[in-house]
Amino acid sequence: MTKSQEPISTMDAINGRRSVRSYTGRSIDEATIRALLAAAVQAPTAIHQEPWAFVILQDADALKRLSDRAKRFFVEEMHRTHLDRGGHTLTMFERPDFNIFYNAGTLIVICGKPLGPFVVADCWLAAENLMLAAFSMGLGTCVIGSAVSGLNTPETKEELGIPVEVSAIAPIIVGVPSDESPATSRKQPQILAWK
Ligand SMILES: Cc1cc2nc3c(=O)[nH]c(=O)nc-3n(C[C@H](O)[C@H](O)[C@H](O)COP(=O)(O)O)c2cc1C
Repeated sequence: MTKSQEPISTMDAINGRRSVRSYTGRSIDEATIRALLAAAVQAPTAIHQEPWAFVILQDADALKRLSDRAKRFFVEEMHRTHLDRGGHTLTMFERPDFNIFYNAGTLIVICGKPLGPFVVADCWLAAENLMLAAFSMGLGTCVIGSAVSGLNTPETKEELGIPVEVSAIAPIIVGVPSDESPATSRKQPQILAWK
């Protein structure tokens, strides 16, 4: 189902994964989703709490509605926190045709149960596992942080069956990439001390 089925090394996955923002319309089947979730839950987890739970959304209309709602909340949040300077990102969010999920067919939301101070860390570690596993299967992913506020509204949580006490932490789109994603660079690691 994907373009690359060759086994790849962990280092190749780490170095090769890029955020994908352009997808074919091909859907991801249940076995693949379950394999991604199985990879996610292998992440390290503080005090072995495994505080994660998952929402899988593959309905295009529901994804579009969620995108529209999340955009509103995200723009408000950026204004409120004065992170709206520079503007061009927000201009995009104000466009009615902009889908924050880039028309990917699948959104996996990693949610956290309120079990302690490391829930957020655990969920993001699970997120990276999921994205590297997806890459190794020839799939593309992108974290959609701009969906978090919209996902955590009481209205959305009720619609998606997320209990009140559980929080959406890491929304990740998954799909078959429609083209190459541009490489992004990284600064050299800054070493503060090495004694
Ligand atoms: C917490 C977090 C939130 C992000 N939110 C978004 C987002 O809302 N939309 C988007 O297109 N990319 C989002 N990204 C992807 C980053 O833009 C991307 O990881 C970064 O530009 C580096 O590119 P790379 O992933 O291709 O290496 C997010 C990444 C992280 C870690």
